[in-house]
Amino acid sequence: MDFNYTEEQLAVQEAAREFAEHELLPGVIERDEKEMFPTEQVRKMGEMGFLGMMVSPEYGGGGMDTISYVLAMAEISKIDASCSVVMSVNNSLVCWGLEKYGTEEQKQKYLVPLAKGEIIGAFCLSEPEAGSDATSQRTTAEDKGDHYLINGTKNWITNGNTASVHIVFAQTDKEKRHHGINAFIIEKGLPGFVVGKKEKKLGIRGSDTHSLMFTDVKVPKENRIGEDGFGFSLAMGVLNGGRVGIASQALGIAEGAFERALKYSKERKAFGVEISKHQAIQFKLTDMATAIDASKLLVLRAAKLKDEGKNFAKEGAMAKLFASQTAMDVTSEAIQIHGGYGYVQEYHVERMYRDAKITQIYEGTSEIQKIVISRELLR
Ligand code: CAA
Repeated sequence: MDFNYTEEQLAVQEAAREFAEHELLPGVIERDEKEMFPTEQVRKMGEMGFLGMMVSPEYGGGGMDTISYVLAMAEISKIDASCSVVMSVNNSLVCWGLEKYGTEEQKQKYLVPLAKGEIIGAFCLSEPEAGSDATSQRTTAEDKGDHYLINGTKNWITNGNTASVHIVFAQTDKEKRHHGINAFIIEKGLPGFVVGKKEKKLGIRGSDTHSLMFTDVKVPKENRIGEDGFGFSLAMGVLNGGRVGIASQALGIAEGAFERALKYSKERKAFGVEISKHQAIQFKLTDMATAIDASKLLVLRAAKLKDEGKNFAKEGAMAKLFASQTAMDVTSEAIQIHGGYGYVQEYHVERMYRDAKITQIYEGTSEIQKIVISRELLR
């Protein structure tokens, strides 16, 4: 495995780092406290090309590889995980699936503005009674000849209110179980499509998470993605890639907390010396740095396999499983190193600790990652 980044990958990483420090850091505490969606910041991310990084330039994207994407995701996540989840969903779950499986018309109409960041997208799989158990879709899509009628409720949808385009999964033929599920492109504002309440969350409080209600929503047949019954396969394929993105988000959160803890440990004095001179702190920093490096290697391996067109489901799940646990451990220890200061807003690490938790839940809980990994091991 080549551990050197290309010049282009390094340039993308640097651009993301500078953007995060100059555009995202100011106001990050206020956005979290007031649960403010980062409208202006997301608009700028679109202009910078961060919302359609891997989409081919033919469709308005950056044509970059997955390594560049995970490097940028980690840099943005070091500062503001509420922004990086918007980036992750748009890139991995919406654009990537549309480019891979959409028709030329769907790509021209939806992918191009999504990749340019002119609009953003949402991925609507979870339901009140179908989170981990995603094959149990209760939302229905009744085939009416030239259109489908969609009825049901989706839960915990990232970009739920902000998205203009929603990829919605629904059951067309219950008898066929998951082979009867379809994926549809549904535009916001269609009659019968109602955005429900905004969730009040532990972390990533700047992102907008909503339930969505569909009552007899008429969706033209040309808005179905792929063949009849392809929806669940699409969801799984897209989520494999998404999990690499969330793994890099977790990595970035951990790196951000570590950098702050390391700096603080060299400044803060206790018992007459900088606390970094105490072995209790040195051992914490050591454990944090080691877990971060291991997470990074897992993330890069999964990204590389994806770029090579190889199967990366197991490796992506391993990266997410490990990096999300690392994010939890490292942010907790970062607070511990900061002591009382770590427990208050101004030092950032308490927000990172809250933000880290979701990386063990969305795009497949840690328990689901273990199912994916063990099934691949035993195949
Ligand atoms: N890659 C490709 N295909 C996969 C797969 C993977 N990782 N995991 C399962 N599949 C396929 C199986 O091969 C099977 O296909 P066939 O029948 O054609 O062979 C099909 O999916 C169903 O699989 P199972 O029979 O194993 O069904 P199951 O119910 O036992 O397990 C599951 C399915 C793996 C648990 C699946 O439901 C799952 O991944 N659940 C988690 C859902 C999830 O990640 N949700 C995230 C929501 S989106 C989100 O969080 C976005 C956000 O806000 C940021």
